[in-house]
Amino acid sequence: MNDSTSDTSQTQYQVLARKYRPETFTDLVGQDAMVRTLRNAFETNRIAQAFIMTGIRGTGKTTTARIIAKGMNCIGTDGTGQPTTEPCGACEHCTAIMEGRHGDVMEMDAASRTGVGDIREIIDSVQYRAASARYKIYIIDEVHMLSTSAFNALLKTLEEPPEHVKFIFATTEIRKVPVTVLSRCQRFDLRRIEPEVMIALMRKIAAAESAEINEDALALITRAAEGSARDATSLLDQAISHGAGETTADQVRAMLGLADRGRVLDLIDMILRGDAAAALTELGSQYAEGADPLAVLRDLAEITHWVSVVKITPDAADDPTVSPDERARGQQMAEALPMRVLTRMWQMLLKALEEVAAAPNAMMAAEMAVIRLTHVADLPSPEELIRKLQSTPPPSAPSAPSGGPNGGPGKWRRLCWRAFRRTGRNPGDGSPCGRYWRAGRRTYGIRWCGAWYLGSAGRLWSGNRIGARNPAGAGALSDL
Ligand SMILES: Nc1ncnc2c1ncn2[C@@H]1O[C@H](COP(=O)(O)OP(=O)(O)O)[C@@H](O)[C@H]1O
Ligand SMILES: [Mg+2]
Ligand SMILES: [Zn+2]
Repeated sequence: MNDSTSDTSQTQYQVLARKYRPETFTDLVGQDAMVRTLRNAFETNRIAQAFIMTGIRGTGKTTTARIIAKGMNCIGTDGTGQPTTEPCGACEHCTAIMEGRHGDVMEMDAASRTGVGDIREIIDSVQYRAASARYKIYIIDEVHMLSTSAFNALLKTLEEPPEHVKFIFATTEIRKVPVTVLSRCQRFDLRRIEPEVMIALMRKIAAAESAEINEDALALITRAAEGSARDATSLLDQAISHGAGETTADQVRAMLGLADRGRVLDLIDMILRGDAAAALTELGSQYAEGADPLAVLRDLAEITHWVSVVKITPDAADDPTVSPDERARGQQMAEALPMRVLTRMWQMLLKALEEVAAAPNAMMAAEMAVIRLTHVADLPSPEELIRKLQSTPPPSAPSAPSGGPNGGPGKWRRLCWRAFRRTGRNPGDGSPCGRYWRAGRRTYGIRWCGAWYLGSAGRLWSGNRIGARNPAGAGALSDL
């Protein structure tokens, strides 16, 4: 493969992922369980008639199919070898399979050949013995794309395939494969590649390419690849073809169109402080520097999620794709923020993401979302309201809360329900009351009912006051 000297990054892009396609299981990373099972099967000579490999893109399905095909047909350098999980890579069969020109190993892409006719061809040819190799092997990629009739035609052959025939299927969508087919295959679930393993793999490839790339840049690539080795390799390829010298995190960030995580954390800080002006300025300057508003919001959501997870399982902070500085800030946030704030933020961000994607002007929608988030952030929490209430009982509520059956003040809750029934919403802040409530087709979970009701009843925070003071916040709460 000597086209690596060609100059467009597009051609390079093709090259690295193919150039580093593992030829043996030793090179295949992150799929230890599958490899162990396969090794046992080969050693005890219990090789299944059909395999199905499933997993997300770029985790090694096609690669594994080819390694198995080689292993089944390999005869070793001396020509006497038996089926093995360590194909020699040098015998006639290994080389022919590697180059995709072995007459007995048929690779077919079900995405482009979905019909029953294509399967008939296979069925008709399984009767004949392999021309030169031990086994006739049919590799069908994206097998879930086959039509129903194609699957049905295949079934009969799968049930009783001749001794010399093996099937290897690969799919990204195992649920679309009929159980009748699944039950006749040995199934392997390929895992997403773990960050540590991926970083090590990228480091190795970069070294083999004598490219210098900084650790933070590798972390960014690994995170963006979401467990797909092909994505990671392709991104690495793009990143190191960018220029001379060490590839930096900034370059990778620009390439991926990502905002600087540190700045996204700053933005979250401003939002949580309720500083709308600062938050808008920060968003504006990120936008001016080329960040996509949708990407910024997605980052906000991602960080919110991450902080929530860290709050529950502090170990989650030990993520090699997160820089130490970010990690410390994330841990601080996890300690400082109540889960309620985090989940509310998450829900609002999800909604905002939809809006930004649909809005004619993404930046405007993002700004509105940030304003809304900022205003909700400085609304008093139910706990604060309770505390205030307990210290200063509202003068117009002589029958002090005695605790209704549901824990809330009974009388107020009734009133509250009445208001809810009449308008479908609480007056003013629009927040839910009662234990469960419905709006539209959605059912909402348990919420503390008394505080918000009191808030909307005008004693502490009248609905109008909230509305007037904080229109964006009021709207957002009703959406929660
Ligand atoms: N487990 C893995 N270990 C090392 N490289 C891998 C692995 N999985 C995928 N790759 C890389 O991604 C490329 C595509 O892998 P492939 O097996 O075709 O993925 P898919 O699961 O989509 O069929 C390979 O050429 C290789 O560079
Ligand atoms: Mg594939
Ligand atoms: Zn061989």
